[in-house]
Formats: sequence, C-alpha cells, structure tokens
Amino acid sequence: MRYLFLTAVLLLGQIVTALSPAEWRPQSIYFLLTDRFGRSDNSTSAGCDVGERIYCGGTWRGIINHLDYIQGMGFTAIWITPVTKQLSQNTGVGEAFHGYWQQDIYNVDPHLGTSDDLKALSAALHARGMYLMVDVVANHMGYAGAGSSVDYSVFSPFNSSSYFHSYCSISDYNDQSNVENCWLGDNTVSLPDLDTYRTDVKDLWNNWVSELVSKYSIDGLRIDTVKHVQKSFWPDFNAAAGVYSVGEVFDGNPSYTCDYQNYMDGVLNYPIYYPLLNAFQSSSGSISNLYNMINTVKSGCKDSTLLGNFIENHDNARFPSYTGDYSQAKNVISFLFLSDGIPIVYAGQEQHYSGGNDPYNREAVWLSEYSTTAELYKHIATTNKIRKLAVSADSSYITYKNVPFYQDNHTLAMKKGSNSPVITVLSNAGSSGSSYTLSLGGSGYSSGAKLTELYTCTSITVDSNGNIAVPMASGQPRVLVLTSTVGNSGLCG
Ligand SMILES: *[C@@H]1O[C@H](CO)[C@@H](O)[C@H](O)[C@H]1NC(C)=O
Ligand SMILES: *[C@@H]1O[C@H](CO)[C@@H](O)[C@H](O)[C@H]1NC(C)=O
Ligand SMILES: *[C@@H]1O[C@H](CO)[C@@H](O)[C@H](O)[C@H]1NC(C)=O
Repeated sequence: MRYLFLTAVLLLGQIVTALSPAEWRPQSIYFLLTDRFGRSDNSTSAGCDVGERIYCGGTWRGIINHLDYIQGMGFTAIWITPVTKQLSQNTGVGEAFHGYWQQDIYNVDPHLGTSDDLKALSAALHARGMYLMVDVVANHMGYAGAGSSVDYSVFSPFNSSSYFHSYCSISDYNDQSNVENCWLGDNTVSLPDLDTYRTDVKDLWNNWVSELVSKYSIDGLRIDTVKHVQKSFWPDFNAAAGVYSVGEVFDGNPSYTCDYQNYMDGVLNYPIYYPLLNAFQSSSGSISNLYNMINTVKSGCKDSTLLGNFIENHDNARFPSYTGDYSQAKNVISFLFLSDGIPIVYAGQEQHYSGGNDPYNREAVWLSEYSTTAELYKHIATTNKIRKLAVSADSSYITYKNVPFYQDNHTLAMKKGSNSPVITVLSNAGSSGSSYTLSLGGSGYSSGAKLTELYTCTSITVDSNGNIAVPMASGQPRVLVLTSTVGNSGLCG
C-alpha cells in the first residue's frame, strides 16, 4: 500500500512520505554520524584519527554511494546527525563534525554537502522504499568560547542574549530546573541555552522544524538533549514536525525517562540499555535485572513499542569495548530487534568496532571497506529478516508487549506476539559456552507444534509436556517460530 502510494507521488513529482509513530514501529534504523560514514570520493583509506575530533570527510553524497551496504543488512531507515551549519573553529576540543554545535539553523553544514545533496539523499532513500530520520537540537546553539564571553551576533536567528537563559553552568543533575535552565558545555565550547519559555523562541523552533521536515521530506526526528528543555515545550514541537519523534533522555531511571513519552512519541531506551549491557557484557552479568526491567519499562512507559532500542551510539562506549566475544555481541543485537521498540544499530557495530567513550566510539566506517561478509553484518541481516517475518506473519506482533518467561543465571527467554509468538532465547555464556539442550516450558505452544529455530534452521516439535528442546551452543542466540509461517521469508531455505 505504502509503496503504491509512494510510486504515485513519485510520478506526480512530489515525495510525501512523512511517517507516523505507528508506521515507524516496523522499521529498523541504522544510525550514522554523517562525517564518519562515507565520503563523496568513495575512499576506503582516507585517514580519520578519532582522537583529533576533527572533520574526516564524510558527506551526504557519501551516504548515497553506500546505501546498498545499509540496505543489504535489511535496514529500512537511517538516522543522520544534525544537518545545520556549525561553528567553524577548530576549538581546544576539536571541530563540530558531530553536528551538535550549531550556529545557523537556516543553512546546512557545508562540510557535509549542499542543501541539494541532502535533498538527493532523501530522494535516494525514498526511491528504495527507505526512510530518513534527522537529528535536531532545540536546546542550545554552540559557541567557541566561555559562556560568559558569547558574541550572540554569530547566531542565526537567536542573535541576541535575550533569546537565551542567562549564563550558568549545569551544576546539579538532581535539580531539574538547573538541568533545564543552565548551560551544557564548558569554557572551551559553551552551549548557549535557549530560553524555550519565550513565545518567540517556541514559534521560531516550531516553524523551523515544520519547514525542515517539508523541505527535505524527512520521515522522522531524533531529538537531542530532551531533558534539558522543559517538558511543556515538546508536544507542540513534535506536532509541528508532524512525524514520529524519538527523544534522547540520557538517563537510565525508568520513572524519570518514561515520563517524557507523555510529551513526545518515543524516547531512546536508556532504561533498558544499562541492564542489557550488564547482562551480556560477561557471563556473570545479571539476567534477572534485565528480565525485571523489561517488565518495568512495559508497565511504566506509555508505549514500550515506540521506544528506540540501542546498545551502542556516539555517546556511549561500544559494546565490544566491554567484551570482544562475538556471541555476546550477537545476543544483544538479537535483543534489540526482538523485544519491544524500534531497533537502532550504530554504524560500525556491524564491523565489531570497539571504540571506548567519545571520541573513540566515532570511528570512520569506510576504513572497514564496507565488508558485507563481516560476522555481525550477516547476523544483523538475518535478524532483520526474522523481524520482518514476525511482522508479516502476525499483525499483532509489532504492538504486542514482549513477555519474558524464563530465566536462569545465563539465559533469558521471551515471547512476543499473540497468535504464534516469536520465542527468543538469549545467552550470556559467550563463545566458549557449552552445548546443551534447554528444556523450555511456558512458551504457550502446545504439544506437537512444529517450530523452526531460525539461526540454525533446526526443526523442533514441542514435546508431550509442552516443552521445547532448544539446542544451545557456544552462547549463541536462538529464535523459534511456527514452521508454517517461515514460508518465503528468505530464512531457512
Ligand atoms: C562512488 O560510488 C558510487 C556508487 O557505487 C558511484 O556511483 C560513484 O560514481 C562513485 N564516485 C566516485 C567519485 O568514484
Ligand atoms: C538580528 O537579526 C535581525 C534579522 O537579521 C536583525 O534585524 C537584527 O538587527 C539583529 N540583531 C542584532 C542584535 O544583531
Ligand atoms: C546463580 O548465581 C548465583 C549468584 O551468583 C549463585 O549463588 C547460584 O549458585 C547460581 N545458580 C546456578 C544454578 O548456577
């Protein structure tokens, strides 16, 4: 239906694809820093010293050149870092290659390309039936200097101090008004904090986001530094955007973070991130904390199926910086795709990049030569196919709330879907984990049901006690579905 509609509007020479929250649920997102993903010259050897924190040459044209690589893993959308024009200096903490130090919101950052290049990226995605999510920042601008020394005339608009909160540095993260009204940044790069209570500031932002979405045919937004703006700002901003918006509330406390979902469509799933990392980074990680958090988020967030799931990003150290084990990396990926929420994979994750905290987690993807035979590249491709199969086989799958139903010290099993649930069995045992058969009860399948394990293509019949004999080996994840649904999913034959 969507594709017919898209074809029709393409024929009319217009592209109108903005996606609602419901339409985002079945998507899967590849998140990339534009400066670090692909270059216009297609170089796979151009150096990029992450420690220097300077522009490495990635562009929107470079993304267009490598969409096959992204689509080859089964992703249906990309999230790109902010597009606005940034401060131009090489400061004591580097350049604005990441896009979070904007000065002019009406122009694009010339390092990344032209306005026409960004339109071409949007069109190239839509021509493939893929979607564009853009990162936006309403909390602050960026200035190369201390907060007490800002020359406001460099900003467009907001070219006067009156648009901003008066300078104070955030000093107490337990004091929400301090978090909202004082400034991020430091004396090298300050992040002048907009007074988002002012009607003119709100109107400028709402008009801007509405125009940005329509000018570039944007399908969704990722919103930066959400907890640094008062909650009442967000509903109008989200409505003005007119597309699904997922906010960054950088906090693992579910009661703190989930509340923001009452003000915007979704938030990044930081409440799950921490126990997920802990559960799988070693064979002694806590499975039960993750098991419990699945239930806490399900009951505490307005809609767990509209959250953005991740285990890596440009602000958190990469998963392989905690463990080099491939089985553990596969399990967390499978969790992102087969639990509630929209899966987000951070560019380089498929290549098992292992950078630590910022700036070391911002490696250039081109240096991998875009290998499509990398182990995690293939695992992600398979897992995207599994999720697509689940969505197409059961219309309730994508809104059904995931149920964890078995745990032991190394294993978590969960089921999702009402008619023929997808059973996901995860292990933190790692690649040296033993081979054994897990007798799994409580799946909801009855004796005689014929299931297929989709990573190994093993057929399993539910036994007379209603248990499933799950073949565990080398700490690998397992996913079981009703065999009759596998059909022409491209999985298992
Ligand atoms: C880069 O790769 C794209 C896609 O394969 C190709 O169309 C383009 O001509 C290449 N550009 C250069 C400068 O080699
Ligand atoms: C801010 O920009 C507006 C519009 O360009 C201009 O009219 C005004 O004089 C500027 N104000 C300051 C303080 O520079
Ligand atoms: C599970 O872990 C706990 C705590 O580390 C330990 O006391 C217990 O013996 C373990 N159970 C099994 C079955 O290994």
